[in-house]
Parts: sequence; structure tokens; C-alpha cells
Amino acid sequence: MWVSFVSEVTGGVTIPNMTSKQTYLTGITTTGTPHLGNYVGAIRPAIQASEMPGNESYFFLADYHALIKCQDPEQVRQSRREIAATWLALGLDHNKVTFYRQSDIPEIMELNWILSCMAAKGLLNRAHAYKAVVQANEENGGSDPDKGITMGLFNYPVLMAADILMFKGTKVPVGRDQVQHLEMARDIAQRFNHHYGEILVAPEVVVSEQAVLSGLDGRKMSKSYGNTIPLFDTEKKLRKGFMKVKTNSQEPGEPKDTEDNTVFELYKAFASPEQVTEFAKAYADGIGWGDAKQQLFELVNGILAEPRERYAELMAKPEDVEVILNQGAEKARAESVPYLNQIRSAVGIAS
Ligand code: TRP
Repeated sequence: MWVSFVSEVTGGVTIPNMTSKQTYLTGITTTGTPHLGNYVGAIRPAIQASEMPGNESYFFLADYHALIKCQDPEQVRQSRREIAATWLALGLDHNKVTFYRQSDIPEIMELNWILSCMAAKGLLNRAHAYKAVVQANEENGGSDPDKGITMGLFNYPVLMAADILMFKGTKVPVGRDQVQHLEMARDIAQRFNHHYGEILVAPEVVVSEQAVLSGLDGRKMSKSYGNTIPLFDTEKKLRKGFMKVKTNSQEPGEPKDTEDNTVFELYKAFASPEQVTEFAKAYADGIGWGDAKQQLFELVNGILAEPRERYAELMAKPEDVEVILNQGAEKARAESVPYLNQIRSAVGIAS
């Protein structure tokens, strides 16, 4: 049983226990084009975990989540394709993991409703994503604190809980901003189990220490800050992106501090320990910012060149991606259909 898994919890960060079998599950909302921050924070650790022997992994395109933020059908379609191609290009082995689209699994939506009836409204009132909009409305002095807030935004942690609980995810790798949602998923699962018996499996959050990558301006790389560097644009654009990273006015020849330096942080996120040591030495020796950025570009470009080609191939052949996703949905539904039946029986609505 999952409760017998031991994991160390340090300040809210769960370090995955490597010895017992775990089910890794994570979703990626299909809005926008993947950037380096998504890669370092979510995609890379998830693919690495999926390669650990004995682990089972579920990765899915959270396209129903996309509708909360994006009501442009063409953009949703495009982003779904880009994100599927990105994960596959970066080496996700779709034969080993279960890789699917949320919208291909109707059981998730059914569970979403069942869980809604177990989720306290007061709990959801505290969700950051919702509260942030209420606060912005209040600061703007409007009369309606719920202006522009849909039930989709409000209920979004419940849908996320359904995503996770549907496939008994025990380890959920996410960014720090999602930790609260994981706590809510646990809370909802526990309430369900208290009511109906031990059926759902409460998940644990996994926050990778490297999860936050700095963006162009030194703040967290994020679509909402407009400070991202795209993952699979052309080589030229990648270089241009790195050249735009904020630095100070120190001249070449002056020794430079590696602390709080965005170029250094970015480098570290991609380099081996030996490369980091060498780069730190170059800083001490007064490397110029232009040269430092060039080295950063070369490092990352070396890592991304091959996946970039695979990505272009996959984007050119959407039928191939479609086949893979359909197989993934079939595999996923082999789990979700019987499990949802069990859940429906538990709540008294089995047919
Ligand atoms: N809400 C997550 C995000 O924006 C994406 C997501 C949806 C997710 N469902 C999930 C992540 C389930 C982990 C598990 O990053």
C-alpha cells in the first residue's frame, strides 16, 4: 500500500524514494509554446524519473485545463501539437510510459464531478489561482470581486485532483506554484476515502530543486512574465535569446560573481558539475558577458540540436503523433474504465 512508502519531507519538498515502485504522473497545460523553463522544471525531471527502472509513469496533455486560460481554438490545437511533439522529441518513450491527452479519457471528467461533491467550497476559496484574480479585482476598485472568473478557474484544483487520482499517481512532479493544488488533491482523496472507504490513493508532491529556471530578467522564467527563451525555435533565435539575458555593467577582465547571476544560473541548469566548476573559474578570471553568453548558448544548443530536429519531423507529421496519442489513450483507459466503475459502485451509482 502506498502509505508504506517512506519518503523524506524537508520543508514541503518531497525527495522521491528510489527503492519502492512509484507511479509518476504529471500534466502539462496545452497553452503556449514550451520554453526552457518548462524543460528544466517539468519535462526533463519527468522523463528522467520515467527512465528509472520499476517506476510507472503517466504523462498527459492537460487540454481541458487549457480552456480555462485560452478560448482561442486554433491556439489550443496548435499548442497541443507542439507540446506532444516536444515531449516525444526530448526522448519520452511512449512504449514505456502512458502518454495521452486528458480529453481522450472521459472517465477523468466523470471523476471530476464525483470529486466536486467531496471538495469543500471553502477549500477552493483558498486556491492561489482564484485568489490572485479576486485580489486584482479588488485592487482595481471594481464592485465585483469575481469579475472575469469562470467556474473553470474556480474548480480547476478539483479537475487536477481527478487527473491524478484517476491513475493512482503517487508522485506528482510539479512547479512550486502547484504545491497547494497537490495538498488539495490529498485533502479531497482523504475526504472521499473517509466517506466511501479506502479507494483513492493520496498523492505526494515532488518539487525538483532545479525546478525554477531564471528568465531573461532574472525572475522565474514564465510565460506570464514574458521573459522566456523558446525550446525549439531556430538555433539563431536560441542564441538571440541568451544574448538578451540581463547582466550588469562589469567590463571584460573584471572578476565576476557567480551568485545571483542569471547567465551562471542558466548555465548550471544544463551543465555537468565539471563544466560548472570551469565556468566559475572563467567568471573569476573575468570572462566578458558576451563570451559567457556565447558559452551558455553553445552548451544548451549542443543539448538541444538533436531533439530540435526530431521535433521538426514530428511537427511535419501530425498523423504519427496522433497514432501515438491514441495508443496512449487506449492504454490509459484500460486502467480508468474499471477503476471508475469501482468508484461509481462505491458512491452508489454503478449501473
Ligand atoms: N495545473 C498544472 C500546471 O499548470 C498542469 C496539470 C493539470 C497537472 N493537471 C495536472 C500537473 C495533474 C500535475 C498533475 O502546471
